[in-house]
Amino acid sequence: MGLVTYRVEKQECEIITLNSFSEREGVATELLQAAEKAALKFGCNRLWVITTNDNLDALRFYQRRGFRITKIHTEALKESRRLKPEIPEIGLYEIPLRDEIELEKDLH
Ligand SMILES: CC(C)(COP(=O)(O)OP(=O)(O)OC[C@H]1O[C@@H](n2cnc3c(N)ncnc32)[C@H](O)[C@@H]1OP(=O)(O)O)[C@@H](O)C(=O)NCCC(=O)NCCS
Repeated sequence: MGLVTYRVEKQECEIITLNSFSEREGVATELLQAAEKAALKFGCNRLWVITTNDNLDALRFYQRRGFRITKIHTEALKESRRLKPEIPEIGLYEIPLRDEIELEKDLH
């Protein structure tokens, strides 16, 4: 029904991908809880994720679950497009796709 991938490095856990194939049924909430549980098991004190400025659903989702915005990498998509030119100029909700937004949850 969904998939979460993450990596652990130096007591920090980064969510690499979080996808729900059946939205608005609590799938991603459960996957996020499982990732947080794993992060705690590995002794992490920080859970973090990067999303893009157009992904209002993800920004809402994470902020409602204890994450806060900690960094905005403005124009980061320019660099990403150098490596992956197929990244579109216009993203979700017809919002220009430009910036990366970092969110984190303190696990203490
Ligand atoms: C963002 C994303 C992961 C959310 O997945 P999801 O499975 O729909 O998430 P949930 O169902 O757990 O929660 C989403 C909303 O549905 C609501 N919801 C959960 N169960 C529900 C139910 N049974 N009935 C109605 N609404 C429900 C939740 O309350 C939540 O709303 P809220 O944030 O206002 O509380 C999903 O939209 C997605 O896969 N997006 C594409 C990939 C992506 O952007 N990933 C994140 C960046 S890494």
